[in-house]
Amino acid sequence: MSRSTTTLSVRQVRHIHGEISVPGDKSLSHRAVLFAALAEGTTSITGFLPGEDCLCTMRALQAMGCMIEVISETELRVHGTGGKLQPPLEPIECGNSGTAMRLIAGVLAAQPFKSRLIGDASLSSRPMKRIVDPLRQMGARIEGRGDKHTAPLEIEGGPLTGIDYTLPVASAQLKSCILLAGLFAQGTTSVTEPTATRDHTERLLAHFHVPPVISPTPDGKGRIIRVRGGSRLHAHDFHVPGDFSSAAFWITAAAALPGASLTLTNLGMNKTRTGLLSVLSKMGAHLHETITDSAAEQVGILHVNGRKLRGIRIEGEMIANVIDELPVIAVAGAVAEGKTEIRDARELRVKETDRIEAMAHNLRAFGVEVEEHEDGMTVHGGSPLKGARVNSRGDHRIAMACAILGLFARGETVIEDTACIATSYPTFQDDLPRIVQFYEGGLASLLSGRR
Ligand code: S3P
Repeated sequence: MSRSTTTLSVRQVRHIHGEISVPGDKSLSHRAVLFAALAEGTTSITGFLPGEDCLCTMRALQAMGCMIEVISETELRVHGTGGKLQPPLEPIECGNSGTAMRLIAGVLAAQPFKSRLIGDASLSSRPMKRIVDPLRQMGARIEGRGDKHTAPLEIEGGPLTGIDYTLPVASAQLKSCILLAGLFAQGTTSVTEPTATRDHTERLLAHFHVPPVISPTPDGKGRIIRVRGGSRLHAHDFHVPGDFSSAAFWITAAAALPGASLTLTNLGMNKTRTGLLSVLSKMGAHLHETITDSAAEQVGILHVNGRKLRGIRIEGEMIANVIDELPVIAVAGAVAEGKTEIRDARELRVKETDRIEAMAHNLRAFGVEVEEHEDGMTVHGGSPLKGARVNSRGDHRIAMACAILGLFARGETVIEDTACIATSYPTFQDDLPRIVQFYEGGLASLLSGRR
């Protein structure tokens, strides 16, 4: 089935009820397999996300000589290379994944061979200059296309020297790229992030026995992370918890539907990822969390009870923590009473698609009044929504956010181009009818497939 011919159809929701555990975290799955491949020894990974994005990282490592036993879709046994990869015979396919391309580039900058990183049309239009600049400062030979250094990236790896680098943009992918290169560089590398971004790389470095030194920035808002070049990672089994960003779709739907009651288990609750919970609480949501594990990553159970939400303003330092949830926060804004304003979120324009433009366009199709800003949008919530036919633009989170909005609209909603959902949440369409009951024909009203 080609990407453009898959559709998902939903109707208005009657009730949301039950318990769900979403597939493994995308960010952690990339990092777990990458760190295990670079480590000395054998690491078992459970809960791995078999989404297209993480499979790109896994296949890239296999293509560079790392032996990975696929025990099941979600369980891998990775035989570490001790950091010595083999030259790939073909270009490395990163598909739709910015994380795969940016993190792997950090590693390849230091490997003594030439490589080429390629991606799909969306990834090939995303800015890579942000990684090219610091890697070149470290001594890497890396080249993209044009001023923005877009993919394909050509890398001629070699010896690197540690740098002190302040991130010009709040990006965990950029931070992780530099820290990975720093592991193989001479001397110490420090990355200063003025605003805290997701800290999975730091946590997994510690888990694989190379704890970075972390201190707060003088204003207390950001962090300085230091790694020592030549540090050796050691194998350590890892369980990937459920992806909070995938759960976000159900959390938002349940929080905004009066009477809904939903429990999410085995959920990744890393504090640099769960900003959606503060956003929804401020909107009036009723949430209750219990932490069940806090070894490498916080994991827990979340109970959500639905009620009518009210609009709020989201901006500044809050943005990095909710960066992947902003499309579904816009949906919450459309369903809530009053105005929801999202600002300081320019980064959304360079995600898998321009998510500000895509969400503003799609929300309007449902009858929502939206003002688009250069760095966000204002959503006027509370008016009746009508089912719509919208397009995901090949972006998984736009597709799923629109499916959630369709639950609150009268009539049928059809989302076109939904194969992209498999990049982060391959079982989204199976999970939907498990917890959602529809008006008009119950579960049978859920259709997906060719149209
Ligand atoms: C990710 C970081 C974020 C996020 C992406 C995954 C990661 O991107 O949007 O889905 O795994 O590090 P940026 O770091 O570029 O903001």
